[in-house]
Amino acid sequence: MKTISLDRILQSQGIGSRKTCRAIIADGLVSIGGHLVDNWSAEFDPAGLYFSLDDQDFEYLEHLYLAMNKPTGYECSRKPVHHPSVLSLLPERFVNRDIQPVGRLDQDTGGLLLLSDDGQFIHAQSSPKKHQAKTYRVGVDRPVEPALLALLLAGVQLLDEPGPLRALECVQTGSHSLELSIDQGKYHQVRRMIAAAGNHCTALARDAIGGLTLAALGLAPGEWCLLSAAQRQLLVPV
Ligand code: URA
Repeated sequence: MKTISLDRILQSQGIGSRKTCRAIIADGLVSIGGHLVDNWSAEFDPAGLYFSLDDQDFEYLEHLYLAMNKPTGYECSRKPVHHPSVLSLLPERFVNRDIQPVGRLDQDTGGLLLLSDDGQFIHAQSSPKKHQAKTYRVGVDRPVEPALLALLLAGVQLLDEPGPLRALECVQTGSHSLELSIDQGKYHQVRRMIAAAGNHCTALARDAIGGLTLAALGLAPGEWCLLSAAQRQLLVPV
């Protein structure tokens, strides 16, 4: 058991600076196990700790692992240029912890986005060596022909890529729509693959990463949830 002072625990959870956390505690705003704790140097084992701040309950989380249904019209950058950042959809205490999107979705792409403050997790999930499969719902402006699916499965050559990129799976879902899985994450990859195969992508949303699906998470656009250990096991191992 490793104990840490309460001000450090609150700071690690993104509540505020050390100074702010000390003031919050000294002001009598923090309770643990139903008891008010106004001594910021009191030590606790953070593992499994619940605390209440201003009557709101929090669980101590060593790291953050989130899934979001990214709405279109948001950028994945921490410093967005033309649209708000996806981080603006999260509580400030998460942003204070330097949470970041795992990889990127374009501003006009929606769907499943992972976010974390755990560098090892972010690296594993975005490493090309891990071959994490990602599944996209794609709308196109010309009818889907068998030749389009065949080309995407066989591989298309994109500018500045050393060799053709192929879809792992590619299934027609409507006259102007398909579902496509890839295991790389090149810049604008799906849109560029569709263009290289002779069509044009008009709508794009990510439905799944590994075995984790947006449908199972049940998130509406703009909503997010913490991922359980079982849900993280549906992704490539760290
Ligand atoms: N491919 C794209 O073209 N855009 C995305 O946002 C994701 C994959």
